[in-house]
Amino acid sequence: MSSATERREALKRIYLDEAKDCRRCPLHQTRTNVVFGAGDADADLMFIGEAPGRTEDELGLPFVGQAGKLLDKLLGEIGLARENVFVANVLKFRPPGNRDPQPTEIEQCRDYLDRQVELIEPRVICTLGNFSTKLLRADTTGISRLHGQEEIRAVGPRAVRLYPLYHPAAALYPPSTLETLREDFLRIPALLALPVPDQPEPVPDVPEIEDKPEPEPVAAATADPADQLGLF
Ligand code: URA
Repeated sequence: MSSATERREALKRIYLDEAKDCRRCPLHQTRTNVVFGAGDADADLMFIGEAPGRTEDELGLPFVGQAGKLLDKLLGEIGLARENVFVANVLKFRPPGNRDPQPTEIEQCRDYLDRQVELIEPRVICTLGNFSTKLLRADTTGISRLHGQEEIRAVGPRAVRLYPLYHPAAALYPPSTLETLREDFLRIPALLALPVPDQPEPVPDVPEIEDKPEPEPVAAATADPADQLGLF
């Protein structure tokens, strides 16, 4: 169990050392900013969307456009705010023209998400829409069949309570989807009050054969990257 500060620092390191200049997939050629994820590094509740849109790409922050405003509103209705949760996406880069994420992009980006979950240790993960739901459930069942039904699933080395929800962008229209999303949201506080799921036995570290060279010292950043990242 890490302190909130340790989690925040570990997330910053992944962002600075890997995600910021990531070239794992061709999306790095077209993106403006990395949208790594933002919010409370010690959150009990995590939301996982699909991929950054235009506004997110411009600002480097997740869910800051129309869908994000709806997310904020629904959070407010259950007494929560962005600072209380952590919000990330399946993809950290915007696909051009907001096209669907491709399977290879999802696969290449996946380990960032697993490590975010491993570090933050949320009690509940709300997957928003089809892409994150299918990814974290490793199953093709769609969101219209699964929304509002929680289950315990392994995400990386963590067992978490997974709670699929409609994507807020899908709830901007029609009103019936918004009402369903709102009803599903109302159950979140009760899910957060449930005990943390039993965790799998940790996998023992494999002993290293050779000593790794000491990493080069990282040049002091001029500004705190957490400000840019939106970490709390
Ligand atoms: N839609 C998403 O799935 N993620 C965002 O960050 C914004 C819109």
